Amino acid sequence: MPKLFFICGQCGYKSSKWLGKCPECESWNSFVEEYEAEPSKKSKSIVSTESVPVPLRLDDIQFSEKDRIWSGIGELDRVLGGIVPGQAVLLSGEPGIGKSTLLLKLAGELSKTRNVFYVNGEESGTQVKQRALRIGVNSPGLFMYGENNINEVIKQIKKDKPGALIIDSIQTVYSPDYTSLPGSVVQIRECTYQIVSYCKESGIPLILVGHITKSGSIAGPKIVEHMVDTVLFFECDARGYFRVLRSLKNRFFSTEEVGFFTMEENGLAGIENEATAFTQLHSARVSGISYFPYVEGNRVLPVEVQALCVPSQFNYPKRNSEGFDVNRLSMLIAILEKKQKIVLAGHDVYLNITNGIKINDPALDLAVLSAVYSSFKDADAFLDTAVFGEVGLTGEVRPVQKAEKRMAELARLGFNRFLVPYFPKGYKINASAQILPVKTIDEGILALY
Ligand code: TYD
Ligand code: MG
Repeated sequence: MPKLFFICGQCGYKSSKWLGKCPECESWNSFVEEYEAEPSKKSKSIVSTESVPVPLRLDDIQFSEKDRIWSGIGELDRVLGGIVPGQAVLLSGEPGIGKSTLLLKLAGELSKTRNVFYVNGEESGTQVKQRALRIGVNSPGLFMYGENNINEVIKQIKKDKPGALIIDSIQTVYSPDYTSLPGSVVQIRECTYQIVSYCKESGIPLILVGHITKSGSIAGPKIVEHMVDTVLFFECDARGYFRVLRSLKNRFFSTEEVGFFTMEENGLAGIENEATAFTQLHSARVSGISYFPYVEGNRVLPVEVQALCVPSQFNYPKRNSEGFDVNRLSMLIAILEKKQKIVLAGHDVYLNITNGIKINDPALDLAVLSAVYSSFKDADAFLDTAVFGEVGLTGEVRPVQKAEKRMAELARLGFNRFLVPYFPKGYKINASAQILPVKTIDEGILALY
């Protein structure tokens, strides 16, 4: 009789009795029953033992950067850094975020140069075909495989030796050697182990889809994170404008990069033109805006900060802010009033960070002040200038992190003037942009307006 135990569906923590809250990952109600895995006598491990590994000299192991496969999908390559032979990638995210759409596109690109197997456990072949037509994927090298039995999948890839394998999703495949249902902790762990081992041994790049689930009845992808080389996470940004692809772990590439996509009628579109994606376009003269170099991972994106100052209808002026802390806005207004000897007490002030981005980087202070001042004085904003710097209570502009990177990236996107904190050593950037270093907000306002 196999032994009964309880296991956390989120993180795989084992316990001999049922627990309400997992002591490991602290999730509630995540424990489910499992029987001690007992492989049936007949079956032997499907993972091949034909080639017995021998110790190899590190010098004798071959790897060249040329083996890295780039997909040609700009935003994905930026995050994933190409795929190396035998690499196991887990793509996790909530249902409906676009994992299957992204991977079908990837499969389409990869299959231009090699055969790709796509195990479609979640959708039927015709459903996938419909989606493929919609997003323009059509390649003779792409094979749909509707098998959910992991042993059969491994048998088939042993025979056909595809150039890449995609399993959508790991929660739908099962191993008949275990009695638990597909999606249970034991099944997910076993199937992942088998397929990852086989793909590693044979050098086939493998991409697994894992759904994030709220309840513990279907196990979450967390339990396989340590078995794969790379964990990518696909999520919506705070307001749902963008789908953000992040790398949580990668044995072969930096995890700093992030990718931005939008979901269009014909699939996911990468944000190629960063300047227009993140800033509004103005044709005539405007007041009340400034541009800020927003840092996300290793990436710098221009963000438009908009401010509107209007005479208040009431005794108590309104301070309203979208995407920036409203208390900090009030503090910055107080500093501006004190230093510039202007009075905003009779004005409502509205602040908006465009494109629904929320920023709590203190470097935004100076850009906020600049936008507020421009709106209050109705002074023309400078569309070619980016502004950043933390502002202190005495009106001093303090240096911030990644200043040179912020300038270099925005210079690449066409900004040619930067209002920045004074830095004793100066800044070095590889661009012909004008840098205006300032020590106080007064100097900053003088420099601009
Ligand atoms: P999907 O890739 O099925 O998500 P996941 O595999 O992560 O569960 O994405 C599904 C969502 O994307 C669905 O809500 C419909 C939408 N979508 C589009 O808007 N345009 C498209 O071209 C496609 C294929 C999907
Ligand atoms: Mg899907």
